[in-house]
Amino acid sequence: MEDLAPHPGDLDPIEKASHDELQALQLERLKWSLNHAYENVPLFKSRFDEKGVHPSDLNTLSDLAKFPFTTKADLRDQYPFGLFAVPRDKILRIHASSGTTGRPTVVGYTANDIEMWSHLVARSIRASGGRPGDIIHVAYGYGLFTGGLGAHYGAEKLGCTVVPVSGGMTERQVTLLQDLKPRIIMVTPSYLLSIIDEFRKQGIDPRDSSLAVGIFGAEPWTNAMRLEIEEAFDMHAVDIYGLSEILGPGVANECVETKDGLHIWEDHFYPEIIDPETGEVLPDGEVGELVFTTLTKEGLPMVRYRTRDLTRLLPGTARTMRRMEKVTGRSDDMIILRGVNVFPTQIEVQILKCDGLSPHFQIELGKLNRLDVMTVHVEAAPGSTSSDQRQASARELSHHIKSALGISAKIDVAEPGQVERSAGKAKRVVDNRSKK
Ligand code: DLL
Repeated sequence: MEDLAPHPGDLDPIEKASHDELQALQLERLKWSLNHAYENVPLFKSRFDEKGVHPSDLNTLSDLAKFPFTTKADLRDQYPFGLFAVPRDKILRIHASSGTTGRPTVVGYTANDIEMWSHLVARSIRASGGRPGDIIHVAYGYGLFTGGLGAHYGAEKLGCTVVPVSGGMTERQVTLLQDLKPRIIMVTPSYLLSIIDEFRKQGIDPRDSSLAVGIFGAEPWTNAMRLEIEEAFDMHAVDIYGLSEILGPGVANECVETKDGLHIWEDHFYPEIIDPETGEVLPDGEVGELVFTTLTKEGLPMVRYRTRDLTRLLPGTARTMRRMEKVTGRSDDMIILRGVNVFPTQIEVQILKCDGLSPHFQIELGKLNRLDVMTVHVEAAPGSTSSDQRQASARELSHHIKSALGISAKIDVAEPGQVERSAGKAKRVVDNRSKK
């Protein structure tokens, strides 16, 4: 694969600034942001007052630990506009996260916020190996989800030609990829797998496509999946991270030259890792829950927002800014099976070890004689669909899961196409344990 590292002269100066410069900027911006939140959002004012802290108590970056956390429940309670820090008529755009239960959480952006967001997605695409003039196929969903429009504005900002396909209509995705010949695709990794299947169904080898880079995010995916995708398409597969409450895509992105975790765009978001049980700040290098404070956002500033994503902070490599390790999962997605903690990504790694299986899967949890049981529904690879081959694949996967994770799982190897597909984020876990 081509060496796609951007020319150092094309980077924003802050991407290669010294640590001192970066931290000085962060401190100045953090002071502004805490003040902005305190002065303009009643909830932040009352939370700070309750804790006996004032924005003027922040003298160093580590003083942030004195301030209260914000959670998704706060956004729900303040639905729809209660956390906005500017008059509603200064909000240019609304997005919302779907929320599996109840109301969505609504977020809003001022003109400056949209500008900053576009700038950071442009920076992310450049870090991934994109450059002005590239054609970018955006297959993230457009609409209330931040993926499509977030990617779109960033691609335009970088000076690319955007193909705003959105998710779904997989046959047409392949037609457009073949005819418009984009260099870059932005899509969830699970939906890319459906696109690979469609290529093969049409008798086209994905390696012959024009794609040189895929920028994948919105859901956890593993390094094993990276290899699978890079091999299938002969392209670079790079990770992009974000969440609606903080921005959308473009909070952090991998650099194509290193692919060693995601550089957090720390000039706009200050990260902390905390112990999810005690809330205590953990040192860099330790795994815990990722927490973000926005440094420049006007419409919806966030103070110590608990993402529920589990990862750790690592020193910068290709850029000055710190990296976050690939997210293994959200604390909400963690399956506790007879006392053992399992993330869907750990199952993904085991599936990718089995040649007879394709990486479409869903985990079903149920009860048998009052004990929890896990069934992994997975598909046979197109060349391994005979009954004997499927049984052998099931035994192989069961063995890998038992030896790597210490749990017994029932394996259901279905025909290709039988596991539920999504044009956006995959639903990896179906929990039927509370059903009678
Ligand atoms: O998923 C924003 C986004 C769109 C990111 C497109 C990247 C690409 P939400 O719908 O609010 O926003 O979901 C945010 O998705 O807290 C993580 O749990 C998960 N997530 C996002 N990116 C990644 C990633 C968008 N690269 C939630 N790896 C986050 C793992 C991710 N999980």
